[in-house]
Amino acid sequence: MDFLDCFAPLTVEEARALREKLHGQGKKLVFTNGCFDLLHAGHVRYLQQARELGDALLVGLNSDASVRELKGPTRPVNHEVDRAEVLSALRAVDGVVIFHDKRATGLIDAIQPHVYAKGGDYTPESLDPGERAALDRAGTEIQILSLVPGRSTTRILQRVQAPQDTSAFEEQRPLRLAVLGSGKGSNLRALIQAIESKALFAQIVAAFSDVENSAFLRIAREAGVPAQHLNPGDHPRRFDLEAQHELVSRLREAEVEVIVLAGFMRILKSPVFDAFEGRIVNIHPSLLPDYKGATAVRDALAAGDSETGCTVHLVTPEIDSGRILAQARVPILPGDDEASLHARIQEQEHRLLPQVLASWRQLQLNEIAVVSPCG
Ligand code: GRF
Repeated sequence: MDFLDCFAPLTVEEARALREKLHGQGKKLVFTNGCFDLLHAGHVRYLQQARELGDALLVGLNSDASVRELKGPTRPVNHEVDRAEVLSALRAVDGVVIFHDKRATGLIDAIQPHVYAKGGDYTPESLDPGERAALDRAGTEIQILSLVPGRSTTRILQRVQAPQDTSAFEEQRPLRLAVLGSGKGSNLRALIQAIESKALFAQIVAAFSDVENSAFLRIAREAGVPAQHLNPGDHPRRFDLEAQHELVSRLREAEVEVIVLAGFMRILKSPVFDAFEGRIVNIHPSLLPDYKGATAVRDALAAGDSETGCTVHLVTPEIDSGRILAQARVPILPGDDEASLHARIQEQEHRLLPQVLASWRQLQLNEIAVVSPCG
C-alpha cells in the first residue's frame, strides 16, 4: 500500500467487512456522516468524541453532488477525494466511505454500524426520519454529541469573504472569565464542569474570594484555576475602594472579558463598573425583580408563593437590578424549607449560568437580549 492508498476512501463492501471483523471480536463500529468540507477544530474534536464511543470510527462522506444538493451550487470547496484523504489522515478516523444520496440511509442499511454519532441540535426524535428508521432496523445505538461553538465551514467562508468582520474569528477564542465568590462554590464547580464537557467554550483565568478558607477557593485550586484571596477591608459587607482598584488591575492583567459573580457577598463599586461596564454577570436565587437582596429564598417561602426560580442578570450599581439575561422557574413544594428549596434552585442555576455564558458573544452582538425564560 503506498502513502495515498492508505488514505483512499473505502468501498461500501470494505466498510461492511470492517464492521463484521469488529463484530466478530466483540467490538463496536461507530458511524457518523457529513460534508466535512473545510476541516476545522470543531470537526476534529467532534470526530474524536465519536471515536471514543466505540472501537473504530467510520465516516460517511457526502459526495460532491450531494453536498451541492444540500448546501447550494458554490459548495463543496474541496473535491470529495481530497476531503476523504484529509479525513482519513485524522487519528480518530479509521475509514471513510463516500456516499451519493443526500442522506446516509442506504449506507446505514448496508453497514449496520453499532453506534451512530450525530452532532448539533438534534435529538434522536428529530433525526431525518429515513436515517432514523435505518438505524432502528439495524439496532444501532444513537448518540448525540455537542458541537464545538463558533466553528463551522460557513463561518470560515464568511471570514474569508469579509476579513474585516472579525466576529467569526473572535468566536474561536475561549471566553476569558473571572469568577468571584464567597461561599460553597457550587456555581464555580458547574462552570468548571461545563468547560470540561465542552458545553461552555471558555477559560476561567482567575477566581477571587473575599473569604480566605472558602470552599470556593478550594474548588478553584483543585481545578487548577488561578485563585486568589482578596482582602476586602474590615467591614463585613463593604468592599474597600482601594481593594476594588486592586481587583481591577488583577482582572486587567489576566485579560478578563467577563466577570461572573457566583455568590459574591460584597458590593462592587465604580472602579469595577467603570472598567467592566456591561460585562459583569450575577446569578440570583429568585425570579427578579422579585426578592432582591441576600434573603431571596427565605422571602419567597415566607410570601407563600407557589414558584420561584433563579435569574442571570447584568450587574449595575443598583443591587440585583441590571438587565435580565435568562431565568429558570422552580416550583415551591409543600414541606419545602429554605435548604431544600435553595438546593432545587441551585440545580437550575448550575444549568442556566453556563448556558448564558455559552451564548455571551451572540448576546453581545445583539446588544444583550433576554436569552430565554425557561422552565
Ligand atoms: C447562589 O444560590 C446564588 O444564586 C447566590 O449565591 C449562591 C451561591 O452559591 N447569589 P454557590 O457558592 O455557587 O454554591
